[in-house]
Amino acid sequence: QSEGDEMILKPRPWATSLGQPVAARPYGLPSEHEKNLQRRQSPGLTRVAASSVAFTPLQGLFGIITPNGLHFERHHQGWHDIDPAQHRLMLNGLMRAPRVYTMDDLMRLPSVSRMHFIECGANTGMEWGNVAVPTVQYTHGMLSCCEFTGVPLSVLLEDCGADLKRGKYLLAEGGDGSSMTRTIPLEMADEIIVAWAMNGEMLRPENGYPLRLVVPGVQGVSWVKWLRRLEVGDQPWNTKDETVHYVDMMPDGMHRQYTSIQECKSVITTPSGGQTLIGKGFYNISGLAWSGRGKVKRVDVSVDGGRSWRTARLEGPVLSKCLTRFNLDWVWDGSPAILQSRAIDETGYVQPRTNELRAIRGTRSIYHNNAIQSWRVAPSGEVDNVQLG
Ligand code: MTE
Repeated sequence: QSEGDEMILKPRPWATSLGQPVAARPYGLPSEHEKNLQRRQSPGLTRVAASSVAFTPLQGLFGIITPNGLHFERHHQGWHDIDPAQHRLMLNGLMRAPRVYTMDDLMRLPSVSRMHFIECGANTGMEWGNVAVPTVQYTHGMLSCCEFTGVPLSVLLEDCGADLKRGKYLLAEGGDGSSMTRTIPLEMADEIIVAWAMNGEMLRPENGYPLRLVVPGVQGVSWVKWLRRLEVGDQPWNTKDETVHYVDMMPDGMHRQYTSIQECKSVITTPSGGQTLIGKGFYNISGLAWSGRGKVKRVDVSVDGGRSWRTARLEGPVLSKCLTRFNLDWVWDGSPAILQSRAIDETGYVQPRTNELRAIRGTRSIYHNNAIQSWRVAPSGEVDNVQLG
């Protein structure tokens, strides 16, 4: 078949001319041919782009790590590129020695590096009532996963002599204009990191440079960016971002508060909405699974809308509160198919079907939609977003 293929037969320009010199781009960039792969905002989702979200293109990523330039962004009041020399972190509240740290003070302390996912509580929030958006970038792209580096919160609490008998909660406050303040139970303290780096380099300004909180397993809003203050207290603060926003509207009209853990969830990223299969035959079904309660134990995949399931391969590493990549061999016979994935975490929790979730949560919520996603494959090979119930 490749007999007449010019790409093989003719000398290619890159084999017959001198290439670019080293350091032509001192900070590397993706190939020109990949420039379609971008964070994208959903037009009309919010009135101003400074208080909005740009979604990670999950359909174009491999493995589990999100490149820093494609990490989703969610700001309530825009982002700044803060001079680290002018940034401070204050610890106060129930402690013997409240203290203000410079970045230099923090970065000389013992540090750790851990891989974790971050998912906005509003991820998949547009899909509560019905199908709203076409691609996995918009249905699930408020999700990223990085290796974060910073000082464990416990080191700072000890340094300041925090009173952990009376102190049960932490208030995290951001330095931007949004007055972002979140209450975090101190029973989570052991895993929390006050981080300055992601994926081996300093945080990007959009993601909180020079300092952000990493709260593994918990919804993104608690991962306070441009972190300027941590207060230890004996009761939750009930701030605007935990009373007016980030509360779950229940079917009876009541709001559920402080449901911050991201429950087990998964999604097939290829094939997914907006893509087209190029003909019958072999495909690698690939996707991501995660749980805010620990490790992913198993992922089942269905190609017939949930009538039958096969167990997917989990690709290592399988880490706690981190994305897990799964893959499954599939031979498409050209007939209509509906692809679904269902994740189960180490607590035994099973990702619910849309209608199972709606029976408990109704359809008027924004937050914490972890329902099974369905992608319909038409005989033409076109894939689109459908809801099966
Ligand atoms: N922290 C501050 N200071 N200001 C913000 O607007 N947005 C929060 C959280 N931390 C926010 C913040 C929300 S709602 C989410 S989902 C995450 O940051 C998003 O983090 P990212 O922009 O790095 O993806």
